[in-house]
Amino acid sequence: MIRKVYILCFVSLCIQFLGAQSWVEIPIHIIPMPVHQELLGGKVKVNKRNLSYSIVGNTTLPIDVWADQFDKKMNLVSDGGKVEFIWTDEIKKEGYHLLITNESIKIKASDSSGHYYGFVSLMQILESDPSATLNIPTVEIKDYPRFSYRGMHLDVARHMYEVDFIKKYIHLLAYHKMNTFHWHLTEDQGWRIEIKKYPKLQTISAYRDSTLIGHYNDQPHQYDKTKYGGYYTQEEIKEIVQFASERQITIIPEIEMPGHSQAVLAAYPEYGCVDGPFSVLSKWGISDNVFCPKEETFAFLEDVIDEVVTLFPGKYIHIGGDECPKNQWNESVFCQQLMEDQGIEDTKGLQSYFIQRMEKYINSKGKQIIGWDEILEGGLADNATVMSWRGEEGGIEAAKSNHPVVMTPTSHCYFDYYQSQDIGEPLAIGGNLPLERVYAYDPIPETLDPIYHPYILGAQANVWTEYMPTSKHVEYMAYPRTCAMAEVDWTPKVDRNYDDFIERLKTHFKRLEAKEVNFANHLAEVKMVIQSSEKGNIVSFLCADKNSEIRYRSAKNKTTVVYNEPFAIVGADSIFYAAYANGVQVTKEYSKEVELNLASGKKITLGSSFSEKYGQYGPSILTNGVRANKHKFGDVEWLGIEGRNTAVIIDFGEPTLLSEIDLGFFHGPAYWIYKPESIRFSYAHDGRDWGQFHEITSIDEGIKHIPVKAAFEPIKTRYLLIDIIAKKTIPIGAEGSGHKAWLFMEEVIVR
Ligand code: ACM
Repeated sequence: MIRKVYILCFVSLCIQFLGAQSWVEIPIHIIPMPVHQELLGGKVKVNKRNLSYSIVGNTTLPIDVWADQFDKKMNLVSDGGKVEFIWTDEIKKEGYHLLITNESIKIKASDSSGHYYGFVSLMQILESDPSATLNIPTVEIKDYPRFSYRGMHLDVARHMYEVDFIKKYIHLLAYHKMNTFHWHLTEDQGWRIEIKKYPKLQTISAYRDSTLIGHYNDQPHQYDKTKYGGYYTQEEIKEIVQFASERQITIIPEIEMPGHSQAVLAAYPEYGCVDGPFSVLSKWGISDNVFCPKEETFAFLEDVIDEVVTLFPGKYIHIGGDECPKNQWNESVFCQQLMEDQGIEDTKGLQSYFIQRMEKYINSKGKQIIGWDEILEGGLADNATVMSWRGEEGGIEAAKSNHPVVMTPTSHCYFDYYQSQDIGEPLAIGGNLPLERVYAYDPIPETLDPIYHPYILGAQANVWTEYMPTSKHVEYMAYPRTCAMAEVDWTPKVDRNYDDFIERLKTHFKRLEAKEVNFANHLAEVKMVIQSSEKGNIVSFLCADKNSEIRYRSAKNKTTVVYNEPFAIVGADSIFYAAYANGVQVTKEYSKEVELNLASGKKITLGSSFSEKYGQYGPSILTNGVRANKHKFGDVEWLGIEGRNTAVIIDFGEPTLLSEIDLGFFHGPAYWIYKPESIRFSYAHDGRDWGQFHEITSIDEGIKHIPVKAAFEPIKTRYLLIDIIAKKTIPIGAEGSGHKAWLFMEEVIVR
């Protein structure tokens, strides 16, 4: 290989004369954590205002373009060689070596992505502090990604954001070495991409007349009656695609079909199965108004694809495929005839026919399809890649049939879920996805045979924006969870360490602050877990920031003490607690009240497995004397069970007289959570021979917290069995129809 040195100039970084300059000491705190990082023991002074670079090798690199993307204090010119970009064949795809010594800064890579990521690591180091003059440790970093697909999604249909924000969002992905931006461009609530052949997409489908106020679960629905919408012109899209490519980011555009298409039908009702008129949807959720698999519909979608493929150079077109209700297809004479003609058994097969036809067309344009895991139903298209969102099962099934998979399960990757159970959090769709849980994700399912691991391309987090009207709100939900997801996708699993991540994140917050990112900072937030046991209630506190000190006091013992390890409280009490840093209180004072009843601390077992996501502390939280948050089902006091009945058994240890039982359930159809259908109470002296003594056959409707009280003739028993008959499947017409329904229960109070 001919090695051409554009400008070669070895100048010691230390010899700059800087007068009375103060040098700020900074650590090497890179996110995502590099594969290998070794401090070399020295320190080197770097003045951001006075850097120069050279390229060593036979291919140029757009360093000036890259340098423009970062710290405005930085002045990196191509008239010296202190920062050397060295081409070599010896480094893995997208990987890089970064060597910072007293003599120079060298970045070696075999492709431009690798050089870019080496440069990003250097920029993170230089942006660790806003000062221009830094004293940084000498270091050797050898780095490459774990997964080839490292993605973030953004829904711009439920709410739309300025072009500048889309660019900022993309830039931040690149800053975390993500390489894919999944741009969710079409929805029931708005069409956001200019398609020149169909002007009504711009004039009608892009705008809704009004927007739901508050949460979908809150009844009756109320609307703001203000026209909302817009779309990205093809010129803007080209600009964004170019911006992304300068940051090694590929954009995957999503054009939803056959469901989530009501906004198109508002403009072109002829592509539906039922007569219109339709309007662009003003509320969230799933619409029955979907594309009809008619020739005219395919012709329309093919025309749309023709324009889309000219705008997006990446290999994938996302065709959606999720949440397509089949009611209209079932009732459509046309669909029934089509199914008969094509030998298609059911409407799942018809969805598969729809997707496979579109796949052939998209393949003929030299592109591949990617779709949500519902595209597995009725048979997967030959070359499809699957995004597994309803869990990992779809991804596992696809990988086992040799299809590429992107993992994005709701359990770890839905950044529209709450990240904190704090009462002051802005309204979110629901759920509970704290930073720690994102960080703990492994995109390779434990049960997947290693021969299929290569089919798992990586993971992606999704930002659905029903409840994010502003770009600031998007940032609040996306950061710092995106930082955690970046590490999931990049760093080897064995090298991930949450405590270390949190330490690096503190430095990273300074970088995000300088970039004016409205990130959420819950690092000092304190979570209190009380687990009942025979020794009394065991209290532990959890806080992401291990350097925080937690101090607590109780109503009984008023002295505030520092928390060191779990402790027992006996009897009713209230605990007050807060986090401190350097002796100063840094959070509000939290409190929890413990009330006692006959079940408190007694042995409790559950006859049904509960969700790890909503029940990580096990059934003992049902007898810990602490009531759950009545407005949100995500706090640790709730236990969630999916699609099944359950039985709660309490062993009082000795014959005990009972006459009243209070239970609490959550009811929120918009969250796919349903109150029980009925409850039976039985007793047994031996834990085997059960006799039913009470039954509740109807439970009042209501939303959110549903108290259920059972009062009966006093009964003496050692064992109590509560059989909870749950709704298993979400009924037709409701949110998530056909999916498993959730049952959420809280404290069991026995008197
Ligand atoms: C989805 O969340 N409907 C893919």
